Amino acid sequence: MTTKARIKRSLTNLFTWLRLHPNRWSVGNAFKVHEYCELVDRSGLRRDDVVLDLGCGQGLQTQLLAWDCAKVVGVDVSPSAIEQARQRSRFSPVRSRLQFYCSPLEEAGLPSDHFDHVFSFCVLEHIPNLDVVLAELARIVKPGGELHFTVDSLGTIADQAVIERHRADHFVIEYFTPQSIRERLSNAGFEVTESYPIFTSPLARDEFVKRIVSGGSLNLLGKIRLYRELRREDRENASPAGIMVLVRARKPVPNARRATPISRPMSDAKPAVA
Ligand SMILES: C[S@@+](CC[C@H](N)C(=O)[O-])C[C@H]1O[C@@H](n2cnc3c(N)ncnc32)[C@H](O)[C@@H]1O
Repeated sequence: MTTKARIKRSLTNLFTWLRLHPNRWSVGNAFKVHEYCELVDRSGLRRDDVVLDLGCGQGLQTQLLAWDCAKVVGVDVSPSAIEQARQRSRFSPVRSRLQFYCSPLEEAGLPSDHFDHVFSFCVLEHIPNLDVVLAELARIVKPGGELHFTVDSLGTIADQAVIERHRADHFVIEYFTPQSIRERLSNAGFEVTESYPIFTSPLARDEFVKRIVSGGSLNLLGKIRLYRELRREDRENASPAGIMVLVRARKPVPNARRATPISRPMSDAKPAVA
């Protein structure tokens, strides 16, 4: 390892120990920040919950989730990602609440009826045997436990060449719509409580296409500014399609009456903003 890399790692470890890293601004680009906030802030996560982060990658979101619950298990099929996740959480004050497994979820052998919440940030679209994975989730989630997923949709991008480039770059098996992901989860036995597009605006589309075509990243101020714009535009833009879809579902409780959505009917529409 070079001296520069060693210094960077030491600083990251120090910031992790001080609880300054990871934070919401460090989970990735402005899209990843908005995705995390949108998925987690309305999840109803509680202090005593046991959580699964499916396809946790390098475990930044896993670490963040651990601040707000009792235990988080991060599972990822990539050995290098799990190695990074373990390395990055070594100095975390919440490391005792974290467990990382390198395995496809369906082979991880996790206990039945165990998890209160499952999060996954843009993972399902990469899984070829998705129905097998969903069946495994139906086994390991507690009755009444909840799923919170984002999936790639690219529903506002018309240029097929751009979509194919994204598919190839990121090994995407399937792009979802609010309807198609809802059907997959329903077929696996979950009650879908909401399913709606995010990053619905022309701004989101243009910024996302720019990243596919030419890459590039913003400094922190630029990232904060773009995050705010993406969030505002999402709230003002009632479009039936977006760059991603957010879906939440629940494992039914045996013999319980089917839950009725309380505040609004299940729909492809975005939730009302307070
Ligand atoms: C696009 S990455 C997302 C990583 C992370 N969630 C994030 O938002 O930065 C998708 C991840 O899913 C993992 N993955 C794919 N299929 C999986 C499976 N069957 N079980 C567990 N992880 C899987 C991949 O290794 C990859 O790290």
